[in-house]
Amino acid sequence: MENQEAVDKLRKEWEEEKFQKKHAMARETVVQCLRELNGYYVEKTGHGFIRFIESRMKTPESICGKLERKGLAPDFATAVEELNDISGVRCICYSVKEIYWIARQIGKDPAFTIVKAKDYVRKPKKNGYESYHIVMDVPVTQKKNTEMVRVELQLRTIIMDAWAGMDNRISYKREKDVSPEMTKRIEKYAKIGRRLDKLIQKTLDDVRSVQ
Ligand code: GTP
Ligand code: MG
Repeated sequence: MENQEAVDKLRKEWEEEKFQKKHAMARETVVQCLRELNGYYVEKTGHGFIRFIESRMKTPESICGKLERKGLAPDFATAVEELNDISGVRCICYSVKEIYWIARQIGKDPAFTIVKAKDYVRKPKKNGYESYHIVMDVPVTQKKNTEMVRVELQLRTIIMDAWAGMDNRISYKREKDVSPEMTKRIEKYAKIGRRLDKLIQKTLDDVRSVQ
């Protein structure tokens, strides 16, 4: 459990309008970019890749919890300095090829600075987690002053997202409470998910080739 005093102290700075607005604008820029790419993808293929998009700001509770887990001071300055996912955008698409297509386009956009990309699709985590993460700096202009704001973009298929949602509820960050039998089951579902994603990719390719 987070330290309540630290959470309350951080919350004050967290809730400052300027800080919230800056992050909201950065996430909105990423969402707009995805929508534009989607429009281009529709022209190219006849279909959009967006199933849905989520955008969120991390809460003071979750910030303090994460800093404490990492052995860092649970304060505002440390959060801004050390964490990459204060602002997060998640784009759920239909297929693995779409994930790589989106990642390539984002990487080519000169407006963004890519800090790092983590490809948990090619190399899933040990528990089976799959997703493509891009940590990026996004320019935000407020009162003629431009600042780079960090955003974590997660690209997932519907199947990857369904698995991650289940894993989040059962085990993520709660490893000690989960039995080995349950851990095995979750790993097995991830394998089934990967198989299903391959079948979906094949079917989407087949449908495209007969159109
Ligand atoms: P966190 O401290 O968990 O944010 O990890 P990190 O900063 O080392 O980055 P990583 O790329 O591993 O994970 C970033 C985010 O991906 C997390 O905040 C989750 O949203 C998601 N994530 C990573 N691993 C898992 C997992 O095993 N299960 C689920 N459900 N989500 C995960
Ligand atoms: Mg995170």
